[in-house]
Amino acid sequence: MKKRVAVKDLNVGMYVVQVTKSNGSAIMTSKGVIKHLGAIKKLKSLGVKEVEIDTSKSVVAAEDLSPETSPSQNETLDTSIERNATPLASEMRRAKSMYADARTELKNTFETLKRGGDIDIAPYEDIAKGFFESVFRNQDALLCMTKLQDKDSYLFEHSLNVAILLAIFSVHLGFSKQLGTKLTLAGLLHDLGKSKISDDILFKQGKLSKDEFEIMKLHTVYGEDILSNMNVDDLTKQIALQHHERLSGSGYPHGLIAHQINQYVRMSSIADSYDAITAERVYKPAISSVEALRLLQQSQGKEYDDDLINKFVRAIGLYSIGTVVLMKSQKLAIVTDTNYEAPLKPSLTAFYHTRFKRHIEPSPIALQLTRETDAIEKVVNAADYQLDINLLIERFILDSYR
Ligand SMILES: [Fe+2]
Repeated sequence: MKKRVAVKDLNVGMYVVQVTKSNGSAIMTSKGVIKHLGAIKKLKSLGVKEVEIDTSKSVVAAEDLSPETSPSQNETLDTSIERNATPLASEMRRAKSMYADARTELKNTFETLKRGGDIDIAPYEDIAKGFFESVFRNQDALLCMTKLQDKDSYLFEHSLNVAILLAIFSVHLGFSKQLGTKLTLAGLLHDLGKSKISDDILFKQGKLSKDEFEIMKLHTVYGEDILSNMNVDDLTKQIALQHHERLSGSGYPHGLIAHQINQYVRMSSIADSYDAITAERVYKPAISSVEALRLLQQSQGKEYDDDLINKFVRAIGLYSIGTVVLMKSQKLAIVTDTNYEAPLKPSLTAFYHTRFKRHIEPSPIALQLTRETDAIEKVVNAADYQLDINLLIERFILDSYR
């Protein structure tokens, strides 16, 4: 739906079609989603007073969420800070140590819970705040960390990844820092109930039997129970309990149906499933990010919220840093930087030739230059070419930001 909006009411995530009122002679050179606050400032400086937006292509603003499911803190982001304004190099260093510290914290928490001990919520509030702020400064850094694969510490990394994905999702939906941090915290704590599931079920190297799956399902109820003894808000408990519920009623533990599942739980189930599908596990290979998004979309509104899935895709982008792509030239390349102006033309480094099955001298591919003849064919999984994604990220991304 097309709608006219005053420039002062514009927000990040809105899809602008054209200028409708202006003091100057500004014209739109391209349509598109407003990716950062700088773009709004620029429109203002050009004397633009009003634009036409397409709400069907826009990332929803917080006030568009149904009021009955929205907590009261749905004010939009503090506009005094510019999003994605921090250089990747400095954010990457911070993100790396934040991610490692948070993983240690979660590992200790699971061990404490297994022993029946109590845990303190304070460190997680700090981690959630740190993650949300990092994502706001430059989402590429922590998003890159979610691409690292470690089968042995999946339990902890999955929780970190869901938290990061929810932080990114929240920023793109224009949520306040308070609400975004809350959802990030809920991501960190959503699977604590797994500490009450025996290791032989939790780490089974094969498909769970029907009875084992029934036990596994209880991690949601245990999770809510653990959190009810801690000083956390209801949304965090609700996400721990409901993140496996599906719109069709096929989820668990209670088989809730669409109208009983609020927007925040829907967001958490998308982030949770996306990370589970893309992860390499002992019983399944990793699946590429684009394939995972396609699988989520395939449920066509039956399990996940279609509208939110589309917004999730826009939030994380198809070619985020660390994504491996197959080029038309049959070379493999890794995304080393995103391109906010032209998201389909990220910075790439080619490093492998699939025809000769060997590494090649790394060379940059500049898709933004018209003389570049190579093009992206598809997103792939490094493991499908017997390549280790962790080593690739280490070599081509993390090493350059030491
Ligand atoms: Fe879960």
